[in-house]
Amino acid sequence: MIREILTFPDPRLKKAASEVKNLDGGLATLVEDMVQTMYAAPGIGLAATQVGSQDRIVVIDVNREEKGKDLLKLVNPRITAREGSIVWEEGCLSVVDYTAEVKRAAKIEVKAWTLDQKEITLQAEDLLAVCLQHELDHLSGKLFIDRISRLKRELYSRRVKKLIREGRPLERSKNPESAGI
Ligand code: NI
Repeated sequence: MIREILTFPDPRLKKAASEVKNLDGGLATLVEDMVQTMYAAPGIGLAATQVGSQDRIVVIDVNREEKGKDLLKLVNPRITAREGSIVWEEGCLSVVDYTAEVKRAAKIEVKAWTLDQKEITLQAEDLLAVCLQHELDHLSGKLFIDRISRLKRELYSRRVKKLIREGRPLERSKNPESAGI
């Protein structure tokens, strides 16, 4: 089932997620819904926070040519090492009609659990590293616009709030070329 993706300035996006304590079947529906919601958006990553859940879960698929081949469903992911830095022009399914350059670690190591209760370690760089850091930020209640200058963030915030007041909120682009994270 495709779920609604919350958008800025929804206060639920600021809530930090909680560790998943029980990896039983109850999570399967949420994760499946997140995958469907991500692909439909279209997006290459989605955190549970973005669909209003407080479970510490992200789904990511940065391979747009072969959808599903590199799909990651990560429970309780955490970054265990970081190296270097990279600047990437980021967008977000929850930050409609806006992109900005964000500086992050170029390479990271992530440990997480899979739905079948295995602990895994991932090494990521470039887009996958950016995407993982972006999604893990969501789980901490953080958006990429929290990592840009205060002035830029204010300008975006004012634009969005003005449109909401006028009853014409921004619509997310359906263009697959601009898949969000
Ligand atoms: Ni995002």
